[in-house]
Amino acid sequence: MFEHEQVVMRTGPRTGLPVFIAVHSTALGPAAGGVRMWRYPGWRDGLADALRLSAAMTAKFAAAGLSNGGGKTVVALPEGTELDAARRRDALHDVGDAIAALDGAYSGGPDVGTSPADMAVIGEITPHVFCRPAEAGGSGDSSPHTADGTLAALRAAARHLYGTRSLAGRRVGLIGLGRVGAHLAGLLAAEGAELTVTDIDPGRRRAAEALGAAWTGPDEILGADVDVLVPAALGGVLSERTVPRLRCRAVVGPANNQLAAPGVADLLHRRGILWVPDYVASAGGVIHAVTAELHRLGPDEARARVAAIEDTVTGLLDTSSRLGQSLAEAADALARRRVEAAA
Ligand code: PHE
Repeated sequence: MFEHEQVVMRTGPRTGLPVFIAVHSTALGPAAGGVRMWRYPGWRDGLADALRLSAAMTAKFAAAGLSNGGGKTVVALPEGTELDAARRRDALHDVGDAIAALDGAYSGGPDVGTSPADMAVIGEITPHVFCRPAEAGGSGDSSPHTADGTLAALRAAARHLYGTRSLAGRRVGLIGLGRVGAHLAGLLAAEGAELTVTDIDPGRRRAAEALGAAWTGPDEILGADVDVLVPAALGGVLSERTVPRLRCRAVVGPANNQLAAPGVADLLHRRGILWVPDYVASAGGVIHAVTAELHRLGPDEARARVAAIEDTVTGLLDTSSRLGQSLAEAADALARRRVEAAA
């Protein structure tokens, strides 16, 4: 069933690049979601990604108790594309035009392939953009807050599994040392977690080892003997092929759309692996941005709301054990209830 409110599909007039904005739902409030600028085998793959990612944003806001809906922008770059600075600006202005045409129904934010500086460039065209650098009037980089939120989710999972919310001594396998993953690695290392990490870019190895982390390959990490696996890169890592190989007790990470197919959540549950849905564990960035920029509350309140992801996960764990469901079912039900109540 097609369930999106609207989808803008256009060829960027400046660049000729395909720009998609999927507005999944505005039932809870104006939609928001990141601007992903990434390479895809074909434009249809970019469109499909925008459709899936925007639906996940609806769940992310609903589960976080925020009055926003889900949307996402994808600029689908053909494989092998490298944008020079001028073309990148043009692409961001193409995105700005497309956002402006939605007249407030959707606001953008940083995502895979875009940064707060890029949000300032979009902001030259439209005010509907989160996370501009502070000097450009925004709340700045959301990735440290996303990392904080994931750590909060990890604490709830650790308390559930091991009776203590500390991650000290826990063996953690971290996939992806991008902006969020690198922050999270720093937080986990500081707490004394035993880290094994990977990234598709072997150039990150040095930074990983500087933190005292062991380095492994992107495929090997899935079978690593760890307590928790933390997906912090692109989506789709949990599939019918990979789940049977996992040796962890929990998967809790900030990557969006971790499941290759919806049924994989059940597969994890049947294997006794606790999966905290990505849209719950990754909500720190949007919680911070919306609290600072829309609700105009100070940094302490924004931080407290991000930390409250720990209570959200603990509450969902209680509900799921009471009802004999997986955590994913409890979270989906909570998100659905909130959207339906508003619609
Ligand atoms: N990449 C962020 C996410 O997936 C998107 C975002 C961040 C949107 C901050 C708005 C504000 O949650």
